[in-house]
Amino acid sequence: MSGTPSSAETVEFPAVADGPGPGRAAARPGGLEALAVSAWFGDHKVLQQVSLQMPAGQVTALIGPSGCGKSTFLRILNRMHELVPSATLSGEVLLDGEDVYAPGRRLTDARRRIGMVFQKPNPFPAMSIYDNVTAGLKLTGVRTGRGERDQLVQECLTRAGLWQEVRDRLRQPGGALSGGQQQRLCIARSLAVRPQVLLMDEPCSALDPTSTRRIEETIRELVDEVTIVIVTHNMQQAQRVSDRCAFFLASQNTPGGIVEHGPTEAMFESPQDPRTADYVNGRFG
Ligand SMILES: Nc1ncnc2c1ncn2[C@@H]1O[C@H](COP(=O)(O)OP(=O)(O)O)[C@@H](O)[C@H]1O
Ligand SMILES: [Mg+2]
Repeated sequence: MSGTPSSAETVEFPAVADGPGPGRAAARPGGLEALAVSAWFGDHKVLQQVSLQMPAGQVTALIGPSGCGKSTFLRILNRMHELVPSATLSGEVLLDGEDVYAPGRRLTDARRRIGMVFQKPNPFPAMSIYDNVTAGLKLTGVRTGRGERDQLVQECLTRAGLWQEVRDRLRQPGGALSGGQQQRLCIARSLAVRPQVLLMDEPCSALDPTSTRRIEETIRELVDEVTIVIVTHNMQQAQRVSDRCAFFLASQNTPGGIVEHGPTEAMFESPQDPRTADYVNGRFG
């Protein structure tokens, strides 16, 4: 990064400038939009006025060096940020135009509609593969019969790209699977509550290259039905899986913000900001 004082400023871009065409966003449910989101831990401000459209039916990748607020931003999108006692925020998060932070809107509703997959696969290790998939259903309050659950388990494991590998051992513990399989099990678990959006925070960083490619395939298969926002440090991965990218940056002692965002190809081939060019070409971070 250049280190000049001006580079510390957050460059803001109009949120709608290069969004989906008219009608497209309206036609597909699951569009997410952040408007002027700022965030603090105690009095430490970590995000400054972040606005970003994450269109339905697309994969949006959040890229940028460590510590610039990508995970915080992701956790704000599904109201996990407020789990940290000192955490506060301002701004709005709209899911299909409705503020997920609106008074009266239930926390569990936001978390059900906007699911999350973490860096380290976190299935319940002693619980069966089958029960791992259905583990989130209690949250929805929907009672299901056995046949219905069987069907849901098959559907979600299929969509997560794991069914063929586990169909004969659904009663074995989730912890017995390989790392990549565990991560796909976590994806299946997320899908079981029928989210509109799936947030993924470096979902492949603990996985080998083969498992990584398998997850990337799964992401591309899912995005027709579920809006995906993924944090990745891997620039090749961002290019392979995402339709759009947002480049986050925080200079020393300043909160993180978006330097530039847009279609992935443009971000890599013709970035507007020299800091984006440096980052995507591996010159820092
Ligand atoms: N639970 C927390 N309590 C206090 N500070 C935090 C907490 N989580 C993250 N931070 C701080 O917020 C900033 C952004 O962190 P994070 O969102 O994890 O960045 P990234 O995901 O881009 O690496 C960092 O300065 C980090 O130290
Ligand atoms: Mg992070």
